[in-house]
This record gives sequence, structure tokens and C-alpha cells, in this order.
Amino acid sequence: MSAPLLRVGGLSTWLDSGEAVVRALDDVGFEVGRGETFAIVGESGSGKSMTALSLLRLVPETGRIVAGSVDLDGVELLSLPEAAMRTVRGRRVSIIFQEPATSLNPVLTVGQQIGEVLARHRGLRGDASRTRAAELLHSVGIPDAERRLDDYPFQFSGGMKQRAMIAMAIAGEPDLLIADEPTTALDVTIQAQVLELLRTLQAERGMSMLLITHDLGIVAQMAHRVGVMYAGALVEIADRDAFFHAPQHPYSRKLFAALPDRTKRGGALAAIPGQVPPLTAPFPGCRFVDRCDMAAARCAKRVRDGRTPGALRCVGDGRKRVERRLAPAPRGAGPARALPDPQGRAQAGGRPRQGR
Ligand SMILES: Nc1ncnc2c1ncn2[C@@H]1O[C@H](COP(=O)(O)OP(=O)(O)OP(=O)(O)O)[C@@H](O)[C@H]1O
Ligand code: SF4
Ligand SMILES: [Mg+2]
Repeated sequence: MSAPLLRVGGLSTWLDSGEAVVRALDDVGFEVGRGETFAIVGESGSGKSMTALSLLRLVPETGRIVAGSVDLDGVELLSLPEAAMRTVRGRRVSIIFQEPATSLNPVLTVGQQIGEVLARHRGLRGDASRTRAAELLHSVGIPDAERRLDDYPFQFSGGMKQRAMIAMAIAGEPDLLIADEPTTALDVTIQAQVLELLRTLQAERGMSMLLITHDLGIVAQMAHRVGVMYAGALVEIADRDAFFHAPQHPYSRKLFAALPDRTKRGGALAAIPGQVPPLTAPFPGCRFVDRCDMAAARCAKRVRDGRTPGALRCVGDGRKRVERRLAPAPRGAGPARALPDPQGRAQAGGRPRQGR
């Protein structure tokens, strides 16, 4: 098995909201294999976009990455000089932002914007660049691509803007494509087309993909593996089939219980009681404790060695495993340790899984 393309470990990002510091990411760790689609799923505000932005060091001005590692094919991105990072962005890793309408430059034509990527990352200019830009626009399903290169973004529909963003994102032929809610703003038919397009492009190019979504249906269609985010932390990572067959974390299970399906027709859906906790203070214990019906008294307590709040995570079947994690360390074994590494910590079943 080849080494994963991307290894993220202990990633923590804080944002200064003016009144308080928001701990948007807390000790996030996962891997993305070559040619693999890893999906991050989670409700609004759980930290999905902040994870994507942190990987590319594009956090808002008020934010900073306070800890962690982002290893892309053996290169630590968090310590690269900014000039080198600019080469990584767009060439090795590119991103389809959550808001395509605001991510395209309104005063440049679509062709000029794709051309900028081709010039910077593929060294193409003039006719060669225009021909390639038209090919890319055509490949994302824009009819009459050659002519539409001269259109401005406002002349494109929402679905076409999304496709233009995808064309720009793949123009540099990246090894990793980050797609942040790539279809949320689209109607169902266009959504299906864009997902199919991403799948085809990935298969053709052997690209890895980090797919961010709050939609478990999209995860089922697209992902090889899944990470579930809750309140700034990854609480479960699993292979797709295992995840859909038997989600392990109590939060993941509640997500499934809240999904409508045929068997629940006419009945009430199981809402998750309570609210996502504020991210302005560290969590002494499990961040899901107020909403978890498996919670035990120990779940709310700080781990004994005072290490990161992320160290107290439910990794399996709720109470039993948590209590085992928190059991007193054997005499002479030193302070109770956090779980071995961020990847292992978040795994359902505890064993880190490599990408395929
Ligand atoms: N510029 C900012 N300043 C302060 N806090 C921010 C900023 N951007 C995001 N946050 C906070 O960071 C946390 C994570 O936000 P993020 O955008 O990653 O959520 P998300 O999971 O992508 O949500 P959604 O599904 O709505 O896109 C949230 O608590 C959010 O309020
Ligand atoms: S650690 Fe405890 S409160 Fe948290 S999810 Fe697991 S069982 Fe529930
Ligand atoms: Mg988001």
C-alpha cells in the first residue's frame, strides 16, 4: 500500500472574533490516500471549511493555526515559506470554494481566470492557453466552450459558475482537489451532474479528493472513507461501508437517526436535542456530552493528565470504551496518556486506517 498523499495531524486553528477566541479546529487529524475520496461530514459550524482553509493556510485574517502538521507527500506545508506555498496552491492542491459566486473575479472573463491558472502552474500562454482553457470548460460540460470563455461570471448561471470553478481548480492538474460543499447551491439535477463530473475527473486523473459536505447521501455516492466532525473535532473516521453499516460514535448514530427514510414515513424524525456547544472555551471532557444519551459522569470530566480536550473522545460503543480510556493508569505507568495519535484517536475501532 502506498503512503497517503496527505497526512494531517493535531491541527488546531483559532479565530479572534473580537469578543472571544473561537477554537474552530481542535486537534484534527486524518489522511487522504492517492486516488481516494475522503469525505468530511458535519453540521453547520462544525469546522469543515476551516479545515480546508487551514490545509492551504488560507485562514481568515483574524485566525491562526496554533498547532499541527499538514504533510503533503512528505512536505510540511505549515512551515513552507509563503512563496513556495503559492506554488502548492492551485498546482498540487486546489480548492473549489463553498461560494462559487463570490470566489470568481467579477471583472475578469472566465477565460482570463482559467488562463491565469494555466500560466502560473502549467506555463501556458497565448493560443495554447486559450485552447486548453476551452478544453477544460468543455470537459466540465459547458456548451459552446470556446465562445463562453469571453463571458464574465455574471453571464453564467449558478451551475455554470460552479463548473467554471471546477475547471479552474483542475487547470493546474492538482494531486489533491478540495471540494467544499461543491453542490449545495445547485438544484438536484445539476447537483447530480456536478458530482458525476467530479467522479469522472477523479477517475481519469487519479486525483485525490477531500470532499466536504453536510449531506450523507453525497458521502454514500462519492466517498471511500468518511470523517465526522462535531464542534471543531473529528469524532469518527471509518470506511464508507462500515460507516453506513454501523456508525460507531453516538453523534454519528444520531445523524443517521435524524435522516428521513421510507421506514419513518408518517412518523417524527429523531432530532438531536440541544445545540452545538460554543467553541470559545476549551472542552474539559467530551464535547458531545450535553446531547449524548450514552453519557456517563466521567464523560464530562477532564482527563487526569490535563492534556488536550480532544484526548477525551468516544471512539466506539459509547460509555464502555470511554470508561476504559479513562480507567486509572497502572501503578508506575506515569500519567494517563492521551490516545496514541490524532489519527488513531479518531478511528472507530482505534486502528489507524491508511488510504487506498
Ligand atoms: N472569520 C471568522 N471569524 C470568526 N469565527 C469564524 C470565522 N469563520 C468561521 N468562524 C467560526 O469557525 C467555526 C467553524 O466554521 P466553518 O466555516 O469551518 O464551519 P462549516 O462546518 O464549514 O459550516 P457550514 O456547513 O455552515 O459551511 C464556526 O464556529 C464559525 O462560527
Ligand atoms: S464520550 Fe461519553 S458523552 Fe461523549 S459521545 Fe462518548 S459516550 Fe457520549
Ligand atoms: Mg463551510
